[in-house]
Amino acid sequence: MKILKTIEELQNIRKTISSSVGFVPTMGALHDGHISLIKKARIENDIIIVSIFVNPTQFLVGEDLNAYPRREESDKKICELCKVDYLFMPEISSMYTKEEILVKAPNKSYILEGYTRPGHFDGVLQVVLKLFGITQATNGYFGKKDAQQLSLITQMVKNLFIPINIIPCEIVREKDGLAMSSRNIYLDQTQRKEALLLSQSLYSAAALIAKGEKNSKVIKTRINEVMKNLDIEYIAIVDKNFNEINSIELKNTIILIVVRFGNTRLLDNIWL
Ligand code: PAF
Repeated sequence: MKILKTIEELQNIRKTISSSVGFVPTMGALHDGHISLIKKARIENDIIIVSIFVNPTQFLVGEDLNAYPRREESDKKICELCKVDYLFMPEISSMYTKEEILVKAPNKSYILEGYTRPGHFDGVLQVVLKLFGITQATNGYFGKKDAQQLSLITQMVKNLFIPINIIPCEIVREKDGLAMSSRNIYLDQTQRKEALLLSQSLYSAAALIAKGEKNSKVIKTRINEVMKNLDIEYIAIVDKNFNEINSIELKNTIILIVVRFGNTRLLDNIWL
């Protein structure tokens, strides 16, 4: 595995590659969720590139940019073990200039995650667009856990005619059901136990739907009941374009939840 710290190094290498390139963008602190993306990319491409870049423009003032977990050495080992060809770790100063051409996410970026984090998705799209430009990847791998991010990136690629296939990847969970996240390490023991209610509430909703329930209100009530003592930020039922829906449409529904544990926000979702 080669570690590349500059954009020029990666661009020069990219010019010599004519076969398929799989790209997994990350902010580091790699866990099994990232590993599953990398493994899928490894199987489906000749060459794979992973980037680690804690992107400042997607953090709002007062968010955890400085405290965001950084584990460079273990991340490098993980990438090595996953047979990554190129690990790209650029500096902030090379990724951003003083006068940026700004990317503006569409209105649907201001609901749900974008409601509590206005502008967050502008920063995500900005950096992802740059990374797509640098890597010129054939396939880009993104987790369904960040469903709204995945939807906006898919739309950006379509709207801006970017020649890359976006590959959605399944959510990876701990054995007890907790969705993997770099932020899980912030949970204390009690919170870690309580966090199990997120996936349990989604499974309970799915069971209700399997029995024939379609009404979004009824399903939200069930989720609320399962998570009744938690600090729920939102429960949303949307179609794949992120329009709120009153009735479940099988194969076109995502149920999303966000719960706060102190300063830590945990997201989970299920695709039906
Ligand atoms: O999902 C993430 O880790 C980030 O939002 C991404 C896509 C790497 C952009 O910084």
